[in-house]
Amino acid sequence: MVQPRVEPERSAPPASTAVPATTPTDRAEPAEPTVSPPTIQLNWETELPPGNAGELIRQGRQRVDQPGGEGSGNRLSCSSCHRLGGTAGGFLSWLGRGNSYPRYLPRLGRTVGLAEQINLCRQHSLGASPWVVNGPEIAAVVAWFEFLRSYPDPVPARELNLPARRADPVAGEVIYQRACRGCHGDGGNGAEAPAAAPPLWGSGSYTEGSDLHRLLVAALFIRDHMPRSEAPQLPLNDEEALDLAAYINSFARPEMPELDRDYPWLSEKPADCPYPPFADPFPADQHKYGPFQAIQAAAEAARAGDWRQYRESLPGYRLRLPMTAQTPQDN
Ligand code: HEC
Ligand code: HEC
Repeated sequence: MVQPRVEPERSAPPASTAVPATTPTDRAEPAEPTVSPPTIQLNWETELPPGNAGELIRQGRQRVDQPGGEGSGNRLSCSSCHRLGGTAGGFLSWLGRGNSYPRYLPRLGRTVGLAEQINLCRQHSLGASPWVVNGPEIAAVVAWFEFLRSYPDPVPARELNLPARRADPVAGEVIYQRACRGCHGDGGNGAEAPAAAPPLWGSGSYTEGSDLHRLLVAALFIRDHMPRSEAPQLPLNDEEALDLAAYINSFARPEMPELDRDYPWLSEKPADCPYPPFADPFPADQHKYGPFQAIQAAAEAARAGDWRQYRESLPGYRLRLPMTAQTPQDN
């Protein structure tokens, strides 16, 4: 395997003119355009294996760039989130993914293969019907995903530092107007070329069952990838990303049926999953916007063995909670 070249989408400013660290308030007049997180410029076409294997990988790349929600109104493709077909480093990149399949998925409470994971994203994020599991579409996307997996991701994974406050959609709107609206539009509706940005809410965007509908997931994506290179306010800090995620996820989006059946072991439901039922007494608003520390601490306590407080808080769902701290599948 040839070592991939790593370069930023645009050249970084020379060190002498580098912008000093800014606080949110002094960003209104940036001195110098800064850069998006590095995108790996994979020279992948020259690295394809010969023959059918290479052709399958090439088809996979085409598939993930195509909008998948024909008929549903959704205008996203896989590449809307797994940017540049997954070749952009950072959160949701497909470079160097460590996950091996089959793996345990808390959302379904069981082990899934890669084909099923792909279909889950297709249904929840694109609002599209699933592909046939042994069909040609899945085979091509799997080939592309597996191909990218052997390249290292140049962007180190960074957790979010969570403030001990509710994320603020109003503050998010202010940043949106400045840094996002130019591409994603007034109504979050996206734009055609040259801005060519996908919709962030409304009928053309991801469904309410998408993982991007979770505050912490959307904030990670936004912090690592947006506002792409053209807007000069980069990089966003964690709090700005959280407020932006709160703003975007405060709008209506396509519904997804039967979400109450997700996470059959409620104890495994992430604190920021915004839809009920919940395994704890915290209100829905707090699951959607935070603060999450208390929710996470309660979940920790429950995992450590004290199920009583959970069971007593929600009689209706009592029977769906595991009686011990054990997960249904241990991995
Ligand atoms: C709206 C955003 C969005 C779109 C569009 C989207 N995904 Fe995802 N995808 C995610 C998120 C969020 C995750 C979960 C990441 C996590 O929890 O770590 C994910 C996870 C995955 C994974 C698991 C990655 C791993 O490391 O094991 C695969 C594979 C995947 N998506 C494939 C696809 C495919 C194929 C499409 C198009 C049919 C697609 N996704 C469209 C947001 C999206
Ligand atoms: C220069 C244009 C541009 C700007 C500015 C921009 N985006 Fe994007 N955004 C894109 C494009 C293009 C994509 C699709 C992924 C890709 O190809 O990089 C995208 C994808 C997204 C997605 C995932 C897909 C979806 O539709 O939900 C989110 C969320 C998002 N942007 C949020 C933001 C936020 C928040 C800001 C402001 C901080 C922002 N973007 C600023 C162009 C832009």
